[in-house]
Amino acid sequence: MTLTGTQAVGAHLSRIEAREKVTGTARYAFEHAPGRDIAYAAPVQAAVARGEVVSVDTGATLTLPGVIAVIWYGNAPRLGPSDDGELALFQSNWVAYRGQIVAAVVAETIETAREAAGQVRIEYRQERHDVVLRADDPTMYKPPKVAPNYPTDTERGDPDTALREAAVSVDLTYTTPAQHNNPMEPHSTVAVWEDGGLTLYDSNQGSSAVRDVLARLFELPPDRVRVIAPHVGGGFGSKLAPHPPVVLAAIAAKVTGRAVKVATTRQQMFSLVGYRTPIIQRVRLGAGRDGGLTAIIHDAFEQTSTVKEFAEQTTTPTRVMYASPNRRTTHRLTALDVPTPTFMRAPGECPGMFALESAMDELAIACGMDPIELRVRNEPALHPETGLPFSSRGLVACLREGAARFGWADRDPTPGVRRDGRRLVGTGVASSTYPVIRRPSQATARVEADGRFTVGVAAADIGTGARTVLTQIAADALRVSPDHVRVEVGDSRLPTAPIAGGSMGTASWGTAVVRACEALLAEMDRSGVRPLEVRVDTADEIASQSRLSRHAFGAQFAEVGVDMDTGEVRVSRMLGVFAVGRVINPKTARSQFIGGMTMGIGMALMEESVMDVEFGDYLNHDFAQYHIAACADVPDIEAHWIDEEDPEINPMGSKGIGEIGIVGTAAAVANAVHHATGIRVRDLPIRLDRLV
Ligand code: MOS
Repeated sequence: MTLTGTQAVGAHLSRIEAREKVTGTARYAFEHAPGRDIAYAAPVQAAVARGEVVSVDTGATLTLPGVIAVIWYGNAPRLGPSDDGELALFQSNWVAYRGQIVAAVVAETIETAREAAGQVRIEYRQERHDVVLRADDPTMYKPPKVAPNYPTDTERGDPDTALREAAVSVDLTYTTPAQHNNPMEPHSTVAVWEDGGLTLYDSNQGSSAVRDVLARLFELPPDRVRVIAPHVGGGFGSKLAPHPPVVLAAIAAKVTGRAVKVATTRQQMFSLVGYRTPIIQRVRLGAGRDGGLTAIIHDAFEQTSTVKEFAEQTTTPTRVMYASPNRRTTHRLTALDVPTPTFMRAPGECPGMFALESAMDELAIACGMDPIELRVRNEPALHPETGLPFSSRGLVACLREGAARFGWADRDPTPGVRRDGRRLVGTGVASSTYPVIRRPSQATARVEADGRFTVGVAAADIGTGARTVLTQIAADALRVSPDHVRVEVGDSRLPTAPIAGGSMGTASWGTAVVRACEALLAEMDRSGVRPLEVRVDTADEIASQSRLSRHAFGAQFAEVGVDMDTGEVRVSRMLGVFAVGRVINPKTARSQFIGGMTMGIGMALMEESVMDVEFGDYLNHDFAQYHIAACADVPDIEAHWIDEEDPEINPMGSKGIGEIGIVGTAAAVANAVHHATGIRVRDLPIRLDRLV
């Protein structure tokens, strides 16, 4: 593959829709108002974690002024068969988790709908629930695969013997709590049925995917469902696939014949749209005195719900990171009476690397080695499990570059000896990785009679700048400047495209955009006709790509100050260096990296959904009690990248950047906390009570 030339690619282009966004004219899902007769639906959520709805008393609610309908299992339309039990809204009276939507009120105003939803009286038959994740739970089982489609377990050599015989070994257990996706824009949908088809203005990470799922649920041909999402205020994975609020909007619109809006409240975000599963991880590492790894064993224990299996791919990064002839990775899962977990920024890689990179730090100390040198010592020549060559592997370059920029050379490894007033100061490092994935996409490229170009692809711009980088990619492929190209995204009527997820959006859509633009130029040369439109599908190109191991790498460095009177941890400096192929837009890329690292600081220090064992639900349901990192928590943060030319990944030479920023961050912070204090915190978040 030859890389496309660059003029626009590599430029610090501001977001194309920046003016619309800052002036408030960019419309988000809930702001769309198709027709005049808008109604609003508000869910009624189950008050028990396991049991049955025995009766729903709708009478009193229906007499309230402005109430149009009360919907529940007893009167809801039947949906088509689905393998996604989470979406089977009102299809049974069974309650599988607390907070599940068991009824809904449709009303003339959102206030009436919410008030009335609070007055619907529901009688339950309650059963005992189990909502606590335990590694030794007898119901733990081996799922057939882990998300999105990886082998559940892998094994090479004889890791148990190698571990037993290792000169140096560690056997460590780490835990990460449930964490909830909290994009700036909560999930919202406006649904309207017209001419027997369904139109959704919906906040999501992929309009083609939402269309396909809703078409199946409502037994419609896919072209009778249209999903429109020009602007989306983030998702972090919870908007990759539809969750119950989307189905609620569609059902409510169908039942009432109105256009119905559903706005998930921040509180409802904590029960209805997924979360990162809590995970218990055991990491065992064996090494020689020189730090060379002889055994790696990484086991993860996770939860899913009883309505749908979601198995996070927690130990998958361990398959890629370090050389060792003997190795094993496993995942075990238990189905609890809880909402279904889902993807949350770098699912798998992020919690998995918290454990592995903490354990590498602990092994470095056990070997008396610098943690960077330990990692360099174990750099594999080939993918350690598949044996495939890497298309490019920039881990060592990132560690070295980061060490130089951060000032690692003079670091005294002794923990607990640097003071700055009441604070103990320490530094830590961790590696990052993320797979380079590309999925088939379609795209159109069109030239108008006046020479302007329009490119269409059902991509999703969730605030990342996707529309902008696709414009840069198209401009270079068409050999014009970006202001001659208009890129249309965010509508399922556009050519079918994969989701904005798995850090694969730009690579997948961009390949299709390049091919469409190339085909258009060729056709223009041949025919000279205008206007002219071509359409491409990259399925064959992607199916026939060479067999290589394709991954992005990075290294995060953190400096922390720990107040030993209060246990307060402040991150005073954070620095990341990434090897991500060609950076298409340094401005939006930097935002992705520092956004990822900021979220990682939140993961390290704050984010924790606390299970209320008695009620069977997460206790903290808002930003007063569920804390995320804000500006004041991140005083000094830098993102850098190394020059990496990789012609084996896609015509742009770019690797995904949406997730790798978060991957090693929590481990870098935890390692810095240990360096500062001598206290190893293996359970996130690093709360005050875990340090004093
Ligand atoms: Mo990401 S968790 O693939 O949106």
